[in-house]
Amino acid sequence: MQNIRNFVIIAHIDHGKSTLADRLLEVTGTVPPHKMKAQYLDQLELERERGITIKMAPVRMSYKNYVLNLIDTPGHSDFSYEVSRSLKAVEGAVLLVDATQGVQAQTLANFHNAKKANLTIIGAVNKIDMAADDQIESSLKDLADLLETSEEKLIKVSGKTGEGVEELLEKVIQEVPPPKNIQGNAALVFSSLYDEHKGVVAFVRVFGGEFSGQANAQLLGTKTSFKIKEVGHFKPELKAEDTISEGEIGYIATGIKNPDSVKVGDTIGPSSGGAPLVGFQVPSPVVFVSLYPDEGDDYEDFKTALYKLRLHDSSFSIASTVSEALGRGFQCGFLGRLHFEIVAQRLDREFNIKVVNSFPSVAYKVKLSKGEWVVIDNPKDFPDDYAEVMEPIVKVTILSPLNHLGSVLKLKETFRLSNIRTETRGERIIVTADLPLSDLISDFDDRLKSVSSGFASFSYEFLDYQKSKVKRLDILVAEEIVPGLSRVVYEGDLELVARKTVERLKDLLPRQQFSQAIQASASGRIVARETIPAMKKALGDFGKNGGDRTRKMKLWKKQKEGKKKLKAMGRVTISPQVFKELLKR
Ligand code: GTP
Repeated sequence: MQNIRNFVIIAHIDHGKSTLADRLLEVTGTVPPHKMKAQYLDQLELERERGITIKMAPVRMSYKNYVLNLIDTPGHSDFSYEVSRSLKAVEGAVLLVDATQGVQAQTLANFHNAKKANLTIIGAVNKIDMAADDQIESSLKDLADLLETSEEKLIKVSGKTGEGVEELLEKVIQEVPPPKNIQGNAALVFSSLYDEHKGVVAFVRVFGGEFSGQANAQLLGTKTSFKIKEVGHFKPELKAEDTISEGEIGYIATGIKNPDSVKVGDTIGPSSGGAPLVGFQVPSPVVFVSLYPDEGDDYEDFKTALYKLRLHDSSFSIASTVSEALGRGFQCGFLGRLHFEIVAQRLDREFNIKVVNSFPSVAYKVKLSKGEWVVIDNPKDFPDDYAEVMEPIVKVTILSPLNHLGSVLKLKETFRLSNIRTETRGERIIVTADLPLSDLISDFDDRLKSVSSGFASFSYEFLDYQKSKVKRLDILVAEEIVPGLSRVVYEGDLELVARKTVERLKDLLPRQQFSQAIQASASGRIVARETIPAMKKALGDFGKNGGDRTRKMKLWKKQKEGKKKLKAMGRVTISPQVFKELLKR
C-alpha cells in the first residue's frame, strides 16, 4: 500500500481535466501512442462531441515504482454528486485552474468539498501554453490565496504541450499520502456501469481486506447478497484480475441485473453483512420532465431505450405517465437541467428515439385543502386549490469580476434571489444567495453569462424547502389545453409569464387555414390571450374572386377537418427548442 496513490482531478467546467488526464495516460505509458485520442477518458460519444465530462472515469497507471489511481471527474454542478462520491474514494486531489480564467465558482465548490473530505490538495494552473504572463501570475495568486499556500508550491502545467506534467506526478507521489487500511472487508461503490454479461459493474475503492471472483458478498446498504462474477482494474478498460486488495481502486462485477440494487455510495462487504462505510446517501432527482415518444407507436422502443439508458445511469428516475394527447410516456426525474438534456440527446443519438417533453418542473410539497401532504412533480397534476405549498430552494454561489457586480445583482429583478451576501476576493466578488430551484432551471445560467459577458460563473447546492405561492398555468390552443405546456409558476410572475408565453407561441407556431386563439389560463381564469391569424388565402377571397362552389366547399371541409384534428390531438408539435425559448425569462 505504501506505493499506491489515489487521487482525483477536480476543476471548474472546461478548465482542462480530461486533457491533462490524456497527458498523464501518455507519460505513464498507460495508453500506447497509436491508441491515443483527445479526451481519452470521455468514453461517451456525447461527451466527446460536447467536450464535457458527464461520467467520472477511473484509470490505474503505473509510474516508476508506484500505482497511481486517477479519477477524472465531471465539472458541471448537475453532476457534483459524482464528484463528491469520487472524493470519498481517494486521498488526494489535483485542483486545476485554467490560467486564462482564474479561480471560478466551481473551483471554490470543489475546493471546499475536497477540504471537507480531508484530502491533500495540490494546486495546478493549466493552459500555460496559451495564457499571457499576467494571466498566469494572477491565477497563481488567486489559487495560492484559496489554498492558503505560496505560489511556489503550485505547479504550472499545460495539458496541451505536456509541460509540467511529470513535475505534477512527482508532486502527487510526494505529497498524497498512501492509503491506510481498516479492519474487515469493505469496498465503497463510487460509480457503476452495466454490462449485458457481468450485470452491474460496481466501481469501488477497497478500504479493507480483499475481493475475488466467485466469492460471496453483500451490498450492505440495500442488503443484497450476490456472488462476485469478476474483479479487476481500470486500464482504463476493464481488466480482470484474481483479486483486488485494500487501498486499491478497481471494479467488482456483481452479476446483478437490477441497477437499483447497486446504489452509488453503498458498501460491498462480507456475505455475513455489516455496517456500511460512510453515510449511505442516494442522490435524488430534482428536475422532472414527462417524456413521450415523438411518434406514439414507438412507445415500446422508447421504453426499452429508456430502461437501457437507466442501467448505465441510475441517477435518473422513471415512472410511467399517460397524456390524452401524447399517449403513454414516462415522468422522469433528473439531477438538473443539463442532465435532462443529456439523457434526451442520448436517446436520440444512441437509440434514434426522438422525444416530446413537457416543461421541466421541480417537485412541490403540497398540503391539499383536506390537510393531506402530497409531492407533485408533474405540473398537470398540480391542484387548483391547496392549503399550502413548499418549493425546493438552492444556495447559489456566484463568482464575478468586481466590475460586473452591478449587473449580477440586477438579476434579482428577474429571479427570486434572496438572502444575498457578498464577499470580496481580490479583484472578484463572491455572491451567495438563496434561489428557488424552479428559477434556477429557467435560464439562470444563460442570463448570468449574458449580464456578465461570460465572466461570472456559479455553482449551486440544495438547501431546503420553503413556503411559496404558486399556481398552475395552462396553455390552450384552439380552446384545448396543450399537454406538456402546463407549468407551475410563482404567483408574482404569473401575468408576465402568461403574456410572454402566448406572445412567443404566436411567433413560434405555424399559421393554419383558420385563426387560432392562444390562451393562458390559471385557476379557471384567462390571464393572457393572443390570436394567430389564418393563412393569407382566406375563404372570403374565394368568394370575392367568384371561386366556384365546389372548391369553396372543399376548402371549408379541409378547414373543419384541420380544426377537428387539432382538437382531437389537442396538440401542436412543440419542439424542444420551442420549450427552451418559452422557458427564457
Ligand atoms: P469538463 O469535463 O467538461 O469540465 O471539461 P474539462 O475540464 O475536462 O476540460 P477539457 O479537457 O475538455 O478541456 C476544455 C478545452 O480546453 C478543450 O478545448 C481543450 O482542448 C482545451 N485545453 C485543455 N487544456 C489545455 C491546455 O493546456 N492548453 C490549451 N491551449 N488548451 C487546453
